[in-house]
Amino acid sequence: MDLLIVGSGFFGLTIAERAAAAGRHVTVIDRRHHIGGNAYSEDEPETGIEVHRYGAHLFHTSNPTVWEYVNRFTAFTSYVHRVYTNHAGVVYPLPINLGTINQFFTAAYSPDEARALIHEQAGEFDPKKATNLEERAIGLIGRPLYEAFIRDYTAKQWQTDPTELPAEVISRLPVRYTYDNRYFNDTWEGLPVDGYTAWLERMADHPRIDVKLNVDFFDETQPLHKAATVGQVPVVYTGPVDRYFDYAEGALSWRTLDFEEEVLHVGDFQGTSVMNYADAGIPYTRIHEFKHFHPERADRYPSDKTVIMREYSRFATRDDEPYYPVNTPEDRAGLLAYRELSKGEKDVYFGGRLGTYQYLDMHMAIGSALSMWNNHLA
Ligand code: FDA
Repeated sequence: MDLLIVGSGFFGLTIAERAAAAGRHVTVIDRRHHIGGNAYSEDEPETGIEVHRYGAHLFHTSNPTVWEYVNRFTAFTSYVHRVYTNHAGVVYPLPINLGTINQFFTAAYSPDEARALIHEQAGEFDPKKATNLEERAIGLIGRPLYEAFIRDYTAKQWQTDPTELPAEVISRLPVRYTYDNRYFNDTWEGLPVDGYTAWLERMADHPRIDVKLNVDFFDETQPLHKAATVGQVPVVYTGPVDRYFDYAEGALSWRTLDFEEEVLHVGDFQGTSVMNYADAGIPYTRIHEFKHFHPERADRYPSDKTVIMREYSRFATRDDEPYYPVNTPEDRAGLLAYRELSKGEKDVYFGGRLGTYQYLDMHMAIGSALSMWNNHLA
């Protein structure tokens, strides 16, 4: 073995694929029973509908190097992501755009009229002087839109009243003064034609890549554990950085999600893939309906059943899956301390969203793995 990779998410698999292509023998371990990290998906058994096990994953990128690379393993559908939100029993398009504004104010404002209105309503606070998230948000989009679409949704995401959240949690709240409600602005977007798992398996499918599942790097009863490998073989580590150092500088805080999946005996539950729930009275933040991610599979998917997943957000304990970095000032100080400790680890490369304590979209995880390979490992 020339290289040990801890974690088979997009970061780990990209390094593995590049290393194998360059003639190296690579072992990838993952403590889960499947490859792919959080991008893993599988067919729900009763309906055959592809379900993203760790929350909805939409691929999008403007990076030509990443786009060329990912197309070696999968083709992409022409899916374009759009999100809607339910507020007070009425459905509006997101991100907030001219359609949202005109529906909300029951008006027919032109782009300039809408811009002037939001500018006037936002005058209540100077976003640069905001002392909490609520003041910043009102200073960006005005109180009416904030209270309808941002306040309760944010409180549900953070389990905290926005007046008690730091203003830095949001730097901008984009408002589009057109009717364009395409969710992503990237040059390319789509979903893998044969699903995420087929894509991930193709990346790992090489005679010089050995994948071992259900193997935890910190389990000293298995041969590829930390003490047995670090210093003996180069290691790319994509697990949580604080766990690597046994939480010596404290635990970094994360938010996690709980998913409640249900098969419904209706052909179409909500008419779209993602519906947010903006109000406090509904405990979940959104509902995914997976068949809408693949309209091109209509002939394969049942016409009388559908799979939905309600999503709930909360702070993670050490036993939960870490999903989104909370990034408090203490977390940032802890991360700097872990970065210092990392420099002392000979031939260990920390990468991916857990290894660097950063939210990374898939194209960013793949892009940073390609950079690590080219700049440090190749
Ligand atoms: P990832 O977390 O995927 O992989 C790390 C792997 O390391 C895991 O498989 C884990 O089991 C393993 N591991 C950890 N500790 C270990 C140990 N001690 N021993 C062995 N193995 C260990 N992106 C996007 O582009 N579009 C989207 O729509 C979304 N949506 C989305 C929704 C949600 C809810 C989340 C949390 C994330 C997204 N993402 C996303 C982001 C996407 O999931 C992310 O970019 C990739 O997961 C990053 O890949 P990594 O390899 O860095 O981590």
